Amino acid sequence: MRVGILTGGGDCPGLNAVIRAVVRVGRARFGHEHVGIRRGWRGLLENETVPLDARAVSGILHRGGTILGTSRTNPYTREGGPETCVATIRALGLDALVAIGGEDTLGVALRLHEEFGIGVVGVPKTIDNDLSGTDYTFGFSTAVQIATDAIDRLHTTAESHDRVMIVEVMGRHVGWIATHAGIAGGADAILIPERPMSVDSVCETIMARHRMGKDFSIIVVSEGFELEGGGGEVEVDEFGHKRLAELGVGHRLAQLVRERTGFDTRVTVLGHVQRGGTPNARDRVLATGFGAHAAKLVEQRRFGRMTSLRGDTITDVPISEAVAELKRVPPERYALAVPFFE
Ligand code: F6P
Repeated sequence: MRVGILTGGGDCPGLNAVIRAVVRVGRARFGHEHVGIRRGWRGLLENETVPLDARAVSGILHRGGTILGTSRTNPYTREGGPETCVATIRALGLDALVAIGGEDTLGVALRLHEEFGIGVVGVPKTIDNDLSGTDYTFGFSTAVQIATDAIDRLHTTAESHDRVMIVEVMGRHVGWIATHAGIAGGADAILIPERPMSVDSVCETIMARHRMGKDFSIIVVSEGFELEGGGGEVEVDEFGHKRLAELGVGHRLAQLVRERTGFDTRVTVLGHVQRGGTPNARDRVLATGFGAHAAKLVEQRRFGRMTSLRGDTITDVPISEAVAELKRVPPERYALAVPFFE
């Protein structure tokens, strides 16, 4: 079989490990040959491809980013976009397409499958861990580790200066990174979109710590947390997503905390540092497992499905299940952090 591979949406650590596994396992076990589609769906719109043989995927396991490039291009916002993608797939002689991406990329893959009969297999990628149908996406563990390392470093400087440190993390409309990094880093307050909270209650937590003789605090805030007073207008991408980082929730929160408590307060916005660099071991293993499983799904022609992690087992689910709704942080996971906010 001739198999196309693309990576779409924001990059994340582990993309190259998936590409490597799809190619290596597909070639060795099933005799597949592969074509790399450049920059997500844009590569199909513009017929931009690269050869993907054993040599092309050599030495990439530990590398961050994606050797194929990526974009947030949405063919469904272009006149004749989906038809152009389908025509390119046919012209390239592809029997299947492995789409590695989050809800947007997988949503397009599903539509191409349902509307045009394209043989797609999805692999769930995102640091945000917001995809349903899988317990974890690859990239998330590395992002949490980067955020945790940052919190550890901020702890010592916060302590030295008796400061409130606010750490803004990514995660879009869910608080997975904030919750896990906050628990791992011993945060004194964690603000996530799933848990509305007043600034006054955050200030009260900090002041209670001070009354107990703890003169510094670490607050982790998710970029998508809705702060009282709103956040103004920001640009949206081709899938209609706001650029949440531009709302500046960390800085706005710091201003309010400063005004209401009088404590010396600083902000660190981790931003794209959370997405860059080498994947950790857990993400490499998960990405390799997903890639190998995707090659098997292709061989078995089980299209319209996405690889998934359930417990410690790699399995698969319909892509429709994954894109149906966002996977939010369950209350019991957040509850694990709460006893430590004192
Ligand atoms: O979905 C991954 C993510 O990093 C989000 O956490 C963040 O909101 C967004 O992408 C940032 O997108 P961009 O790279 O386009 O600024």
